[in-house]
Amino acid sequence: MCGHSLGPVAKRSKKRVLEALEAWEHQAVSAWNLSQWMELPQILSEKIATIIKCSSEDLAVCDSTSVNLFKAIMSALKLQNRRNVVLTTKDNFPADLYISQGIANFHPQVHVHAVPAESLMSSLTEDVAVLMLSHTNYRDASVLDMEKLSRAAHERGILVIWDLSHSIGIVPVDLSSVEIDFAVGCTYKYLSGGPGSPSFIYAHPRHQKSLESPISGWMGHKKPFEFNVNYIKGSGSQAYMSGTPSILSFAALRGALEVFEHIDIVSLSRDSEQLADSLIACIEKSEDISVISPKTGTRGGHVALTHPNGYALSRALIDHGIICDYREPDLVRLCVNPLHVDKQDIELCGSVFNSVLEKKTLMGGKYQQLQSVT
Ligand SMILES: Cc1ncc(COP(=O)(O)O)c(C=O)c1O
Repeated sequence: MCGHSLGPVAKRSKKRVLEALEAWEHQAVSAWNLSQWMELPQILSEKIATIIKCSSEDLAVCDSTSVNLFKAIMSALKLQNRRNVVLTTKDNFPADLYISQGIANFHPQVHVHAVPAESLMSSLTEDVAVLMLSHTNYRDASVLDMEKLSRAAHERGILVIWDLSHSIGIVPVDLSSVEIDFAVGCTYKYLSGGPGSPSFIYAHPRHQKSLESPISGWMGHKKPFEFNVNYIKGSGSQAYMSGTPSILSFAALRGALEVFEHIDIVSLSRDSEQLADSLIACIEKSEDISVISPKTGTRGGHVALTHPNGYALSRALIDHGIICDYREPDLVRLCVNPLHVDKQDIELCGSVFNSVLEKKTLMGGKYQQLQSVT
């Protein structure tokens, strides 16, 4: 029940990683050619582009989401004249806030303005260079209106960056039908790419010519193996590649993405909403529980609830076989991904949940001790 944080391992991932290990063992450095390792980023770009409906020319698979967000914000700021505000929401994922604060720290003319989501429209002022938002909120799984916000930003000359980390693989995203400028996202959550699997970055084709990455790494060079001392950027979003791809992680993600070749995200999302409704019905009447995820409308793939003793509750649930996670100060998140769980699992989860809550002794002692990863 925690695929919103780390999706489970796909059999195909295991196979692809073992294949890569075999290639390493038997082909050594020749595997870069013999086993198509150099082509892996492009192979993965094509698969991810299919899921979010864009061209693989406009997408690169590389680095972490944090690093890709840095590249996207820096590129967007470079494209803007004299505007220097990065507008975002107060409840955006902290890494996204940290990355923009870090940029402002190095570039004193840049300011970060973080507002409540309800104030976004009225904050689209003429000094805003970039609107940087998470599509699905990591806390309550609410989903922002990508079309409406992007259009409003563009009407005011503002570029838009979307973080799709909690959407890709569970909430339909169609970049062919909405005008945005940049997107980044994570592949270890709903795509099940594996711990620390590579992220992706998208730039709209209209930016490709003028697009510049602040990290001019050799993998983003037009011809890395010419070892030319001058940097000539690669075509399209390839310019966003920086260093050598982490092949074992790429192999795991490749296997995971093969699963998605057979999945329709629109029906997956519908099924997920139904499972979420069942879970909410099972748990919302429990004492001290408050479900904070939206009960109607589009919702991401997890259900978030608060409990005054949320951390201990999450630990007790894990001890009873319900793997969930906890976010400060009192939030417990449970994932309802139909690829991992069905209605019976949800009913079982509901009954374990309620029995853990009833046995109040479970909430004391060892469950209070904070672990380093929650
Ligand atoms: C919405 C969002 N953005 C960014 C990140 C940071 O990703 P990474 O640690 O891979 O850089 C995360 C990680 O969970 C996330 O959920």
